Amino acid sequence: MANAFCTRFGVTQPIILAPMGRVGPPELVAAVSNAGGLGLAPLWTDGPDKMRMEIRRIKELTDKPFGVNLNMDFRNEEQLDVCLEEGVEVVSIFWGNSGNFVERAKSHGVKVILTVSTSDGAREAVDRGADAICAQGWEAGGHVEGRVSTMALVPAVADAVGGLPVIAAGGIADGRGLAAALALGASAVWIGTRFLAAKEAPTHPIYLERLLAASENDTEHYDDLYDLVWPNAPHRALKNSTSRMWEAAGRPSLGHRPGEGDILATRPDGVEIPRYASAVAFSELEGDIEPLPMWSGQGVGLVTKVQSAEEIVREIVDQAKSIIDF
Ligand SMILES: Cc1cc2nc3c(=O)[nH]c(=O)nc-3n(C[C@H](O)[C@H](O)[C@H](O)COP(=O)(O)O)c2cc1C
Repeated sequence: MANAFCTRFGVTQPIILAPMGRVGPPELVAAVSNAGGLGLAPLWTDGPDKMRMEIRRIKELTDKPFGVNLNMDFRNEEQLDVCLEEGVEVVSIFWGNSGNFVERAKSHGVKVILTVSTSDGAREAVDRGADAICAQGWEAGGHVEGRVSTMALVPAVADAVGGLPVIAAGGIADGRGLAAALALGASAVWIGTRFLAAKEAPTHPIYLERLLAASENDTEHYDDLYDLVWPNAPHRALKNSTSRMWEAAGRPSLGHRPGEGDILATRPDGVEIPRYASAVAFSELEGDIEPLPMWSGQGVGLVTKVQSAEEIVREIVDQAKSIIDF
């Protein structure tokens, strides 16, 4: 059976590596693409020069399709220019109004994936000219725009977009999730949390240990807990000492929170990370890791071992194929 996503994006497996800021290096992106899926590089956090180097590095590691993720809350005009100059084939856009980005990308022959959280948002994405729609459910890890669960969102989006490939994101971590997403009308899945336990992911060991030990009940959705650096962007993360301290204080807003101003960790470039910053605990951080946001989806209970990205893709596909034919 031809898969709408695989056909349109030139890949053999309906699995997308979710872009994950600072924990999606070229090695991981390329490994997922080499395994037949689509690796997405979260390069919106980088300046143009670093971004160009990362794109070139991915190209050294794979000749398969891959994409770059941009974040509209940070505009990323220069980053889009770099994608166009470097001949990136797929651009994924999340958060906020995609403005003229879709038009600009498409005029260069780039395929565009827009992330949405409602069926209205999906219709708008179709009107803007998206080539595929990522429907991100509330179960998802990291920044989560909507409040509808993947189970309810995916069929609603599939009905709204008239045959355009729909990609299901949020809470999908194994072949059962892939099979369910296909049954709901998606033609691919977009997986983040499970790939944090890939050998190629530079997830800080303390963050990784927490992920492997966590159950589906250990995450929480917060409107505005980690809002330094990136305000007004709700998110899901593992409960930790920072969230417990903040809950105990009655969930106070910025300016009144316990431990505000504490410097928890330092990046290799010397940038200090205060408590409540919207940072990612990647392996090179030095300092106190547990109180940092440990982004995670509710599917974390299914993440129990470290494997190569290739093994993860293969295991998910094999398990799904044992359930349904696709
Ligand atoms: C650590 C982490 C970082 C993330 N960073 C980004 C990002 O930079 N861009 C983006 O579009 N989504 C980002 N997300 C959200 C993912 O793309 C995706 O929607 C989510 O991981 C799917 O849910 P799952 O974690 O349950 O698989 C991030 C998620 C995680 C867990």
